[in-house]
Amino acid sequence: MMYSREFIQQVEQAADIVSVVSERGVALRKTGSTYKALCPFHSEKTASFNVNPQRGFFHCFGCGIGGSAIKFVMEYDKLPFVEALEELADRFSIPLEKTTSSSAKEQSEDRLLTALEHATEFYHLFLTQQSAGETGRQYLQNRSIPLPTWEIFKIGFVPEQWQLLVENLTSRGFSNSELIQAGLAKSSPKSGRPYDTFRNRIIFPIRDIRGRCIAFGGRTIDADQQPKYLNSPETKYYHKSQILYGFFEGREAIKKKRKLILVEGYLDVTRLHQFGFPEAVATCGTSLTADHVRFAQRYVDRVILLLDGDQAGQAAAWRSCPLFLSGRLEASVATLPVGEDPDSFLLTHGGEKFSELLQRDTPVFEYLVQQCLAKHSSNVQGRMKAIEELLPMIGEIFDETIKNMAITHLAELIHLPEATILEKAAKYLRKPHKHDTLENFHSTDSVSIEIQEEKRLLQVLLHFRRFITLAREFLDVNEFQTPHFRQLYKQFLQFSDQEFHTKAIEELEHQIPDLYSEIMKLYMEGMPPEYSEADFKRLIRQIKERILKWQRDEKLASLSDEEKLHANIEFRKKKQALDKIYPHR
Ligand code: CTP
Ligand code: MN
Repeated sequence: MMYSREFIQQVEQAADIVSVVSERGVALRKTGSTYKALCPFHSEKTASFNVNPQRGFFHCFGCGIGGSAIKFVMEYDKLPFVEALEELADRFSIPLEKTTSSSAKEQSEDRLLTALEHATEFYHLFLTQQSAGETGRQYLQNRSIPLPTWEIFKIGFVPEQWQLLVENLTSRGFSNSELIQAGLAKSSPKSGRPYDTFRNRIIFPIRDIRGRCIAFGGRTIDADQQPKYLNSPETKYYHKSQILYGFFEGREAIKKKRKLILVEGYLDVTRLHQFGFPEAVATCGTSLTADHVRFAQRYVDRVILLLDGDQAGQAAAWRSCPLFLSGRLEASVATLPVGEDPDSFLLTHGGEKFSELLQRDTPVFEYLVQQCLAKHSSNVQGRMKAIEELLPMIGEIFDETIKNMAITHLAELIHLPEATILEKAAKYLRKPHKHDTLENFHSTDSVSIEIQEEKRLLQVLLHFRRFITLAREFLDVNEFQTPHFRQLYKQFLQFSDQEFHTKAIEELEHQIPDLYSEIMKLYMEGMPPEYSEADFKRLIRQIKERILKWQRDEKLASLSDEEKLHANIEFRKKKQALDKIYPHR
């Protein structure tokens, strides 16, 4: 999309750079005819960032960055030129220039957007003007959705017929393939003829930040029609993982307050808007993604996650919260009473109670800690498990200061000395090498056989301590292939059999603190209720035999044929010797 030089100049002239900069949270101080601030692009203690409103540009004498309002938005919001330009045009109410599409590709893309625009209009008119729209009107009235909301969100309706929209758009010259590409129609597998994607539904147009309709969400009006919500398929314009419903409709308030309230459903968004919370947005039938968070970060500093009070809502919060740890947004969670969603809460309790509820929000990290503690028992094991779950999350925290605060905070909440937490956190605070930590072993689905066997052996030892005697007798430390588990095993062997046998897990904490959390993790992962001596011996044999094979294969490559023969004989002998531990099947 190309804009003319005149249009770009028009936007630059209209864009008040002082507003643009200060609306993004940069605290400007007036000094004479210019403004000064600490530079948002590099860290400094004295203000060398200058804004000149007359000439409409900014400049930092510290890092050298400077330019027009467009350049500022590009740098600060991390937007490409055209988007920064459109963003400013929108902010200062300059209608976008109608550009003449150059290539055939651009023209066909424009046609899809035009089709979606016509569809929005069609559904909306159907709701507001057609007599057959009565069912839709009735539904919205029953749900107390007032007329202004219909207009702001351009809500629509389509009755139960197969080709209403298809017929309408075909008569306007759109081809079947265009309708299908836009997600508005599907083709019948039998006849090949197109039919409407959305039927017998209330229609919520989903708009991008420029206000273009790019998709629809449709809610059934019959309790027994499935699915309850139907969403447009992904298209060139519609990427579910990036779009927030309600952002366009609430953009002015959102940019002013620099805040979002994140809810689950379309109707929650419209209800919040109606009650004076236009900063409400929702994902469109997906969970929150890192892309959503990056998008939000461009415009706001704060996000309140407001989720349904049911299990699903809590689970969603638990999944979404970590996404905020690595970013610069201040995020918190507000929880609704069980059985309520924001829509029902506002209808029953009103805006004031709702505000109060928002004010009782919990910062995401604290929320994660609380949920995690509630999930595990309050004894030593439980708390260790909770810490193990939380530490990797702390490792994700982007800002060092916040990271340190989180550790202090965690220590307080969990009633453990900060030093203990720090010690355990050490490995998460530096970025681990791949395969360096147990964490990676747990996270890979296909761990190698030696890791599985060696881990299992240690787990059995922890649960059935008496087997330490057998292990000591038959399995040498160097027969462990995984450095991490070898280290653990070595520590186990440093105890006498008697000692190891009688030791409580908690005592291991003090004696081998470095590895204690690893031990806990192994221990917690669970174990069959019984493990016989024969089972244990078979496990030892498997490990030893694997090592023998491995050693032989290493050797074979560099040997002559005759030497190979010897190596094989030697291997067979050693293998037979293993029968003493556990007989070959
Ligand atoms: N959703 C969806 N597909 C479904 C069900 C739900 O995409 N089959 C998405 C929709 O975006 C919906 C949101 O999940 O708005 C929340 O679903 P739910 O809580 O079931 O619906 P509500 O938003 O509460 O809608 P209503 O009040 O109309 O029941
Ligand atoms: Mn609802």
